[in-house]
Amino acid sequence: MQDFLRRLPKIELHLHIEGSLEPELMFALAERNSITLPYASVGEAKAAYQFKDLQGFLNLYYQGMNVLCHEQDFFDLAMDYFKRASSEGVVHIDMHFDPQAHLQRGIALDVVMAGLLRAKEEAEQTLDLSVGLIMAFLRDRPADEALQVLEQAAPYWKLLDAIGLDSAERDHPPSKFVAVFNRAKEIGLARVAHAGEEGPAAYILEALDMLDVCRIDHGIRCLESDEVVDRLYEQQTVLTVCPLSNTSLKVVDELIDHPLPALLDKGLNVTISSDDPAYFGGGLLANHIACAEAFGWDEDAFVELNRNAITEAFTSESRRQELL
Ligand code: ADE
Ligand code: ZN
Repeated sequence: MQDFLRRLPKIELHLHIEGSLEPELMFALAERNSITLPYASVGEAKAAYQFKDLQGFLNLYYQGMNVLCHEQDFFDLAMDYFKRASSEGVVHIDMHFDPQAHLQRGIALDVVMAGLLRAKEEAEQTLDLSVGLIMAFLRDRPADEALQVLEQAAPYWKLLDAIGLDSAERDHPPSKFVAVFNRAKEIGLARVAHAGEEGPAAYILEALDMLDVCRIDHGIRCLESDEVVDRLYEQQTVLTVCPLSNTSLKVVDELIDHPLPALLDKGLNVTISSDDPAYFGGGLLANHIACAEAFGWDEDAFVELNRNAITEAFTSESRRQELL
């Protein structure tokens, strides 16, 4: 089964590129940029990756990305992940990135974009990999700031596939970002949002109704509301479910208790992703293997999940046909 899963062409719709920063690269970039890390060694960093909840993770995630200062750092970050993912059979990645987290540290948007776009171009030319770009906004920061960043990103609109909404979910409902998402729609950008990860099922409905998203990142708490499940079923809205993320952040106690099988039983449009692979114990292949072990799914089940993802991937129709 592990060989089959490694060989299976896999599609990842939910990946935060800053969450792919492995401790080894973090140390190398820290040295290159003369930054002092709060860890004495790679081993100490890895040992610190024990999280109580989403906020506990986000604290280390934002701290880790302090080593990203120059265009080359963003290029190295993305290329390092693209090569690793490609070697594990990943053929498409829709990649979130968090511009506000870098702007806040004095890193210009042009620096972030130049590095990520160069890596995307190189990956698409040298690996069998296509990459979609999702500019994500931090829901625990003011909505005005998100709108300003979206306007500032005008030179890049044509190169983006979608905007997203991430960071601390509790008490930051989708409704806070209606103006930003309306503006993205006006611009012609697709919209996705994290909802129902730590936040309530009602946030999923809000994201659908008020932000007009085509995709819900996580969404696993939909099972707490029949109304929300019915809606997701009727619309066949894709859910990007991240099993190892959910156990790492204690959204779910053990993988065996994960709602994935229940979501499939309800006929929902489920896909699997890794979220922040450097922090949650592995990438898309590791997530596939963990699901095979926990749920005993057969090969067809994984083929089906990746088919669901291909249909929704931010890529050209010709690439989609090639992957189907
Ligand atoms: N940013 C990076 N990973 C995230 C997650 N799992 N949830 C919300 N925001 C995030
Ligand atoms: Zn995420």
